[in-house]
Amino acid sequence: MEDKIIQIKKQALDEINKAQDLKTLEEAKNKFLSRNSEFNNLKKGMKDLTPEQRPKIGALLNQISDELTKLIEEKNEVFYTKELNERLQSEKIDITLDGNYIPQGHIHPLTQTVNEIVEIFNYLGFSLIKPELSPEVELEKYNFDLLNVPKEHPARDVQDTFYCENMENVVLRSQTSNAQARQMMNSKPPIKIISPGRVYRNESVSARKNNLFHQIEGLYVDKNVTMAQLKGVLNEFIRLYFGSSRPTRYRSSFFPFTEPSVEIDVQCIMCQGKGCPVCSNSGWLEILGAGMVDPNVLKAVGIDSDTYSGFAFGMGVERLTMLKYAIDDIRLFFNNDIRFLKQSV
Ligand code: PHE
Repeated sequence: MEDKIIQIKKQALDEINKAQDLKTLEEAKNKFLSRNSEFNNLKKGMKDLTPEQRPKIGALLNQISDELTKLIEEKNEVFYTKELNERLQSEKIDITLDGNYIPQGHIHPLTQTVNEIVEIFNYLGFSLIKPELSPEVELEKYNFDLLNVPKEHPARDVQDTFYCENMENVVLRSQTSNAQARQMMNSKPPIKIISPGRVYRNESVSARKNNLFHQIEGLYVDKNVTMAQLKGVLNEFIRLYFGSSRPTRYRSSFFPFTEPSVEIDVQCIMCQGKGCPVCSNSGWLEILGAGMVDPNVLKAVGIDSDTYSGFAFGMGVERLTMLKYAIDDIRLFFNNDIRFLKQSV
């Protein structure tokens, strides 16, 4: 038995000394010290020894196992440090190298305008409508009927408005004014909201028109709301949005849901009012429609038109952005050319 033990020890020492790295050292360790190793089998065989032999052999086995373990640990330490150093050498990071370039995204110019306008109206006391009161897929009822738009009105024509197939009376809203009807049916005056969003019109695309565009609707309903207040609010908005220097004009107009109605033009920034293709040679560009809420609309949504009055406005976000930054083609907003988008902050 003793001879056998000495022989295994020699073999083990031999292999451990031969090991040149962590991997071969680990293999030697498994071979000689693991549970199924020959060495361990010898320990298991102790039970067959005579009581006299047992302590001696036991002590020898323990001594050898301690010796081997210690040796392995020492070599392990050496190899570990060596391999770690090698790895650190080969993985050296050159912190003076340029980093990977991550291109920075930008807020879309239209979103930027919407944010700016919402901020201005917040400052003027208007709060943002709840999104559920301003859906893009809408019933004709809210887009037209409640807004006093007669059944035969040309805006309702399929040439002007997108109707959803196989769904009766469902349209892609042609104006954010649908939010007016929903807001008034949903809450009592005083109401003072704005509602930005997408609108859709079935028209041919050109430098001035796209069949998807954005509007911001405003609605103020309370006792004694007047046209003078409407002018005051819109003038203040124009002053804050453009800076006070931009010439504007009010023109009387007509909308089925406001009476009286106006449109506001801002001087064309491309030609400074001289006339150019962008403004159809008129020198002016229309930015919004507005007016006093028609009593018929108040009645239709259940608000007493003897007690309450209101004003409403709807502005074109693309137009306002084009006018502020001298952008001469509405399609630029939708083509997603990165060179265009990059210019915004
Ligand atoms: N909805 C109108 C349009 O799209 C604009 C408007 C809104 C006019 C509110 C008056 C009052 O042209």
